[in-house]
Amino acid sequence: MSDRRVNVGIAISGGGSNMAALVRSMTGDHPARPVLVVSNVRDAGGLARACDLGVPTAIVDHTDYPDRAAFEDALHAAFAAAGTDLIALAGFMRILTHRFIDRWTDRIVNIHPSLLPKYPGLDTHVRAIRSGDAEAGCTVHSVTSNLDAGPILGQARVPVLADDSPTTLAVRVLAAEHELYPRILRGVAGDMAASVASPLPNSDVPR
Ligand code: GAR
Repeated sequence: MSDRRVNVGIAISGGGSNMAALVRSMTGDHPARPVLVVSNVRDAGGLARACDLGVPTAIVDHTDYPDRAAFEDALHAAFAAAGTDLIALAGFMRILTHRFIDRWTDRIVNIHPSLLPKYPGLDTHVRAIRSGDAEAGCTVHSVTSNLDAGPILGQARVPVLADDSPTTLAVRVLAAEHELYPRILRGVAGDMAASVASPLPNSDVPR
């Protein structure tokens, strides 16, 4: 068993409520610790939130780069420089290609606001309401090159109420996200920390 915690890097694009839930959960005997919050949006509200929580932040603004490959290289470099072992996407709204994902195989997790495989992509709450679904929810999954289609690690369900708008449903799903994502991250990090066969790629301890 590794004698150090799993370093978690978190990618955001917006308000960062899931990021905050993850960071707040990583205390005490938690097998992971937050090492960096990266935003691709300069004025993302989550950046100030991360500062308040005492987590280092970085901006890797996709509009600063000539193409997606250059953006992904910079994103990779930011996480690698922070000693990241595991990346948690938390409201990160850029599609990542195999160029990035292949460098972090089995080490990227994401939260998505639907019960995958239903409603990958955008506008999940609009689609759930339009379809007349009785239930909605959220999914934490491992990230592969297939958008929102990686192995499912956990889900939480909430009811869709008769008078729900996409906004009211989003509030209910988001509350479920804040419970689900920390719980799943803890399990994933615990498995990584305990795995003797797959020592942490960025581990700085002698093996
Ligand atoms: C969350 O609902 C998350 O599931 C969703 O964006 C929101 C971010 O909120 N993510 C996606 O749609 C990814 N495709 P937050 O910034 O407050 O965590």
